[in-house]
Amino acid sequence: MPHGDRLPNDPETRIREATEAVAPRLIEIRRDIHTHPELAFQETRTAGIVAAELTRLGLTPRTGVGRTGVVAEIKGGRPGPTLAIRADMDALPIHEETALPFASEIAGQMHACGHDIHTSTLLGVAAVLKDLAPQLAGTVRLIFQPAEEVLEGAAAMIADGAADGIDMAIGFHNHPDMPVGSFGYVRGACLAASDRFDLIIQGKSGHAAHPYAAIDPIVAAAAFVQEAQTVVSREIKPIHPAVVTIGQFVGGTTYNIIPERVHLKGTVRTLHHESRDIAEAALRRLAEGIGVSMRVKTEMKYVRKVPPLVNDDRVLDPVIAAVRRQMGDVISEGEASMGAEDFAEFAAVAPSFQLRIGSGQPGRDDRLHNAFYQPDERCIGLGVQALSRAALDLLA
Ligand code: NI
Repeated sequence: MPHGDRLPNDPETRIREATEAVAPRLIEIRRDIHTHPELAFQETRTAGIVAAELTRLGLTPRTGVGRTGVVAEIKGGRPGPTLAIRADMDALPIHEETALPFASEIAGQMHACGHDIHTSTLLGVAAVLKDLAPQLAGTVRLIFQPAEEVLEGAAAMIADGAADGIDMAIGFHNHPDMPVGSFGYVRGACLAASDRFDLIIQGKSGHAAHPYAAIDPIVAAAAFVQEAQTVVSREIKPIHPAVVTIGQFVGGTTYNIIPERVHLKGTVRTLHHESRDIAEAALRRLAEGIGVSMRVKTEMKYVRKVPPLVNDDRVLDPVIAAVRRQMGDVISEGEASMGAEDFAEFAAVAPSFQLRIGSGQPGRDDRLHNAFYQPDERCIGLGVQALSRAALDLLA
């Protein structure tokens, strides 16, 4: 034995060996899912693979949860709390250009966010924890979620009971900006609330040469776009990050016509619940103000999609400690992002933590959501080890 203080049966070795045993199968599953990507709420083939694998492990998966989601539980040898671990399964409407032998066979659809990686990682966790079940005090609930990319799958699953009775939850995402083998965390709010609005600015069409006889919605919309910039700079606390972006401005047809209406689409990202309220109130007020000052009629449709994802130290600290025990000094603190993730819906139900798993291939400068995305598959086995150890230690 190379280390006198380490028994061959210690959790570290057991988890590593169990992961190594299952890793080739996980890569196979990941590549299969990658070749056959499915968009939000269409993940029936993927859910079928997940359910079959869970059944093969001796678990009893429940399918059709949140339309196309799958849930299974691993009961420990002793009673204790319920820990949920959640993976997402959906792909993106992107045409893959990697030329990998297992590239997407479906035109215009691709696993460009690595949810294929997440799905196979959680299947690996299922295999490892099934093995360790007698040592768990409590229950691990495995949640395979659809439709993360449209920020609707988590809410659908929760409505179907997927989060009932959970005491804590762990989510995870691969990070190509972090080298494979590394892990990351953010204390507190780590991802933003994502809200969106449609603003219809109704004017009165007419000849471009006679604007006094019309009501110009283009000038009114331009004023709104300018004024919307004051929400972040003048109304939200500068120490509370927020973004307001108008991503679409549609109106008009040609040089000499004042159009009838303009349609704006915007997104609002905030890390604090308080800023979320302030931004909505301010944008509604500015829209009404444009109506008064520019004579247009405005119709604002404002939709709150997901809350900020706030990590809870009660889960974060034990998971960091577990990752260090399993793999050494591989986890470090990162920065919050104004991106959004609907794991936030689970985090709003129970104390939660989202683990970042490095997936960057050495020498590649890669990003999520791009047609050439190629995460390093070794992140699957490493993720399995980290998450399995986290579960084992949280349910010790
Ligand atoms: Ni993603």
